[in-house]
Amino acid sequence: MKHCTDYSLKSLHTFGMDVKAAHWVEYASVSELRTLLMFMKTEWAKLPWIHIGGGCNLLFASDYYKGVVMHSAIKGWQVVHEDDTCLHLRVGAGVVWDELVAYTVSQGWGGMENLSLIPGEVGASAVQNIGAYGVEVKDLIVEVETVETTLGQPYVFSVKECGYAYRQSAFKGPLGKRFVITHVTYRLQKKPLFHLDYGNIRAELEHMGGEVSLENVRQAVINIRESKLPDPQVVGNAGSFFMNPVVSRQVMERIREDYPQVPFYEVDDERVKIPAGWMIEQCGWKGRSLGRAAVHDKQALVLVNLGGATGREVMDLSEAVRHDVREKFGVEIYPEVNIIS
Ligand code: EPU
Repeated sequence: MKHCTDYSLKSLHTFGMDVKAAHWVEYASVSELRTLLMFMKTEWAKLPWIHIGGGCNLLFASDYYKGVVMHSAIKGWQVVHEDDTCLHLRVGAGVVWDELVAYTVSQGWGGMENLSLIPGEVGASAVQNIGAYGVEVKDLIVEVETVETTLGQPYVFSVKECGYAYRQSAFKGPLGKRFVITHVTYRLQKKPLFHLDYGNIRAELEHMGGEVSLENVRQAVINIRESKLPDPQVVGNAGSFFMNPVVSRQVMERIREDYPQVPFYEVDDERVKIPAGWMIEQCGWKGRSLGRAAVHDKQALVLVNLGGATGREVMDLSEAVRHDVREKFGVEIYPEVNIIS
């Protein structure tokens, strides 16, 4: 187990602020996690704690976190079930997501290819219900193994118990403080079922020569993401800052009267999802800055740290953007990133 005090998290989260934590702890096995939880219960009972993954979806609102920041270094994966059509892969929560995707694609196992290049780690994939290009990770998850934080006992969540919806899970609510994810089991297809009808995937595949294969779909997704999303190594960001709002058809029709070109995706009979990036662009925010924080110039859903921005500056920008979207469209948008105060 690793433990550091007054530890800089600058390289451990992608917004790149120089935030420090009173305690930073990294464990590498379920037994180390249980030891840590028992220690926290007796010695650090008064301290707040958070569990981070790759730090790709976090904004620290202040520059010092007075509690314990935990990180999983549980690595490794094994096939735990196999039949004629699919297999189940059990993966440690600390595995880097895109290393897993690259491996599954290299094995010819389908399911994760549309989720290529999403930053972060396996544990967070199950908390955030990460999604891109028509695939959400909930569609692949079989079960999520956890340790309960007060008693240190293992508990396995079936996918149903995880309460998944668009960018939502039970772990984003109070259960996230009661259970720490240690492993996630995913279902993968031996004969891939491709999802090519979302966004520019088909166009990008054609541009690449047209052959539909797991490697090519992965590469197409990588090309699209790299062309739109800023590289956190170059400019601090946490991917999509806001969720796309789900609104009634009535609201969408009202917006469509003034903006006939409004894009939307079907959710169910009554509701549609409108891309927040489109609304933010219509408000004139794309590429604009406030202090040292800005709206990304290629994808308005992403807020960036231009260099030296504080968490407060990003929050102020977020509030200004939300205000203008509310005024113009009468729609509330909410951050997708987890804001740590
Ligand atoms: N759009 C604009 N202007 C913009 C951005 C988007 O007009 O600046 C419009 C366009 O009409 C575009 C539509 O919005 O066709 C959708 O844009 P895009 O396909 O880029 O996707 P998104 O809805 O903005 C979501 C996810 C992304 C994921 C993409 C692709 C959320 C919060 N974000 O973004 O996920 O990569 O779809 O599937 O659902 C992330 O979570 O960090 C992330 C990057």
